[in-house]
Amino acid sequence: MMTKHLVPDTTAAKIRGGVGEGQVHDSAHKHVTGEAIYIDDMAEPAGTLHAYLGLSTVAHGKILSMDLSEVEKAPGVVAVLTARDVPGVNDLSPTGLNDEPVLPEDYVQFLGQPIFAVVAETREQARRACHKAKIEYEELPALIEPGQVDLTNPRLVTKPLKLTRGDAQQAIASAPHRIKGQMNLGGQDHFYLEGQIGFAIPGEDMDVTVYSSTQHPSEVQHMVAHALGVPSHAVTIEVRRMGGGFGGKETQANLFAAIAAIAAKKLNRAVKIRPDRDDDMTATGKRHDFLIDYEVGFDDDGNILGVDFSYAARCGYAADLSGAVTDRALFHCDNTYFYPAVHAVSKPLYTNTVSNTAFRGFGGPQGIVGAERVIEEVAYALGKDPLEIRKRNFYGTSDRNVTPYHQTVEDNIIDRLVAELEVEAGYKARREEIARFNASSRIVKRGIALTPVKFGISFTATHFNQAGALVHVYTDGSVHLNHGGTEMGQGLNLKVAQVVAEEFQIDLEQVKITATTTGKVPNTSATAASSGSDLNGMAAQNAARQIKDRLIDFAADKHGVPKDQVVFLPNRVRIGNQEIPFADLIREAYMARIQLSAAGFYKTPKIHWDRDKGQGRPFYYFAYGAACSEVSIDTLTGEYVVERVDILHDVGRSINPALDRGQIEGGFIQGMGWLTTEELVWDNKGRLRTHAPSTYKIPLASDRPKIFNVKLADWSENVEPAIHRSKAVGEPPFVHGVSVLHAISDAVASVADYKVCPRLDAPATPERVLMAVERLKTAKNL
Ligand code: MTE
Ligand code: MOS
Repeated sequence: MMTKHLVPDTTAAKIRGGVGEGQVHDSAHKHVTGEAIYIDDMAEPAGTLHAYLGLSTVAHGKILSMDLSEVEKAPGVVAVLTARDVPGVNDLSPTGLNDEPVLPEDYVQFLGQPIFAVVAETREQARRACHKAKIEYEELPALIEPGQVDLTNPRLVTKPLKLTRGDAQQAIASAPHRIKGQMNLGGQDHFYLEGQIGFAIPGEDMDVTVYSSTQHPSEVQHMVAHALGVPSHAVTIEVRRMGGGFGGKETQANLFAAIAAIAAKKLNRAVKIRPDRDDDMTATGKRHDFLIDYEVGFDDDGNILGVDFSYAARCGYAADLSGAVTDRALFHCDNTYFYPAVHAVSKPLYTNTVSNTAFRGFGGPQGIVGAERVIEEVAYALGKDPLEIRKRNFYGTSDRNVTPYHQTVEDNIIDRLVAELEVEAGYKARREEIARFNASSRIVKRGIALTPVKFGISFTATHFNQAGALVHVYTDGSVHLNHGGTEMGQGLNLKVAQVVAEEFQIDLEQVKITATTTGKVPNTSATAASSGSDLNGMAAQNAARQIKDRLIDFAADKHGVPKDQVVFLPNRVRIGNQEIPFADLIREAYMARIQLSAAGFYKTPKIHWDRDKGQGRPFYYFAYGAACSEVSIDTLTGEYVVERVDILHDVGRSINPALDRGQIEGGFIQGMGWLTTEELVWDNKGRLRTHAPSTYKIPLASDRPKIFNVKLADWSENVEPAIHRSKAVGEPPFVHGVSVLHAISDAVASVADYKVCPRLDAPATPERVLMAVERLKTAKNL
């Protein structure tokens, strides 16, 4: 058990758990012992019912008839809901495009689309009853794979984006060298440990409270209100924690909350809905897979002169967040590189598959994978080390610092990061050693790659960059903290609590982090885009400062000293030449009727974005990092092992180095899984064949790098006055997984003496690695 020091130490020189301290996650011990309460662990009110979804068995079709009589008669069934039972608006589209019904009326657009819901006394009864439905479809032609789509004239789910600077085609045409290619980049299932879940408890009149595992309580509130046809004030959403979200609960929780709420209000009983893993994987959106077409022009030294990109993404049947995801892919098609001339377009493709959604990096990683493929092409064409090509094309100063979206890069530290990592990882010597090893090893080949990342921080929809917080100080000096962000394991609650503890100069134990609820902080943005601590940390600091200012006014007035003589010291306050415990000041302030509660607010300054022009400053700042990975592959089977990984990552001035390190390690492993073993396969009927851990392989503990060195760039600080000069850390380290893909590619290239670019598609499963090896062996012998 953790020792708790609940009595503040008023003699200490420093508070316990302030900003910059590597505090352990507030729920770590509860996660491990099983004491942490997730929604499915909550005590159920008497009479709680359980819902389950009936899913479409065709990818595209008209519903000719739906006979649910056997479902209704099944044991334990209390109600069956269809589109007709949605009392309000039958739509859950987060974009307002009206393309995502709660339950469809007579038309289905992917295999696995929820068509009806069964409510029964037990979950098992509801689940079994679903199979008794008799639905007749008129099947329509289905578009499953992006490869089936005519990319010159595709059907899109939303408006594409175009970025241009200079004349890319002209620059490519007049360049000494030109290369054109295509890369197939797979999607990814979120595989959160806690699946989707909604638990609704009906109240009086129109009221309902929904416990939802969501990153976006405000949106769930609005969607539920919409679907019920009631004002938002009737709906309260509460989120204590998620067992992982990773973007998969930014919009995908809406359906489960809506079904639970509709059933709960209709039956006036508590209703819970939790799909099993297979249905969760089949019926909810994932990371977008992409077909990336690229053309690059470059000179003899490897300087890129012009690039032309097309990023086509499998979006599924509805827009969901695909517009913003494909935008962010384009925003990262440069990664850390300056393109003298660039043209890039997105193609958010309509397909008859589940509607894809946010996933850690939100399209950014896909954009970067495209940029890094281009670097590889240039390197192999010239017979140079890819790292040399990378460094040569880094953003620089004055005339080499404008991005394809016309934002100037003002905080570039990539040269220093890469130089330091290169030395620390011993890149050069190891690369030479690997070349020697490969020359004499017939079957096992090794490879190494050092890849950089630059990641833009802010929601690209400017209005999302706002946050609120609510801080109460009780008369015993303890603090109750609420903010609009949600906790999904990343440690946001702890970081924000550290900010508040620091502000009042009280020990962290004095600050209580409470569940996120729409009733305390309204109109919040999703906890996403890695902006959770940037936004909510600032809002909480703002609330704390309001209370502090009132305390200072009060103390100065009461003790007859100037305001600057009221100073907050660890757990005490100096007023003139006397010092009193913080709790004493609070007590005095309360007796004098000083308001000890405040609502804080923050909006990110400086950012703006004109999407039609493709110009602006969408990002407040950039987070940087670099990773060096070494792998060995078996050229007879395609299997590989990650031997060693070194990461140097920029979090600015860390609020909590322990949490940041966890984010970097976890992000890297998740990124590695995406690009290596996690493969989504749909058959030609549109059925997801990889819908369970038996066929969908996330990294195991045994897949972690044998040597794994992670370091924070402790010299870095945010040039912008973000919260305590820290930087967002949730998504950027995910991109470090790219170094593993490129290390595998390097090992594959060795079989053809590094003369042919392996053009390895992702995920680089052992099968794909083996095929690439065979392809290169053939190429070598030609
Ligand atoms: N870390 C854990 N443990 N679990 C998660 O679900 N989600 C990631 C990242 N790190 C996630 C995580 C994603 S997609 C984002 S956008 C950020 O956390 C969101 O939290 P933040 O803004 O507070 O960093
Ligand atoms: Mo993260 S994909 O922005 O939820």
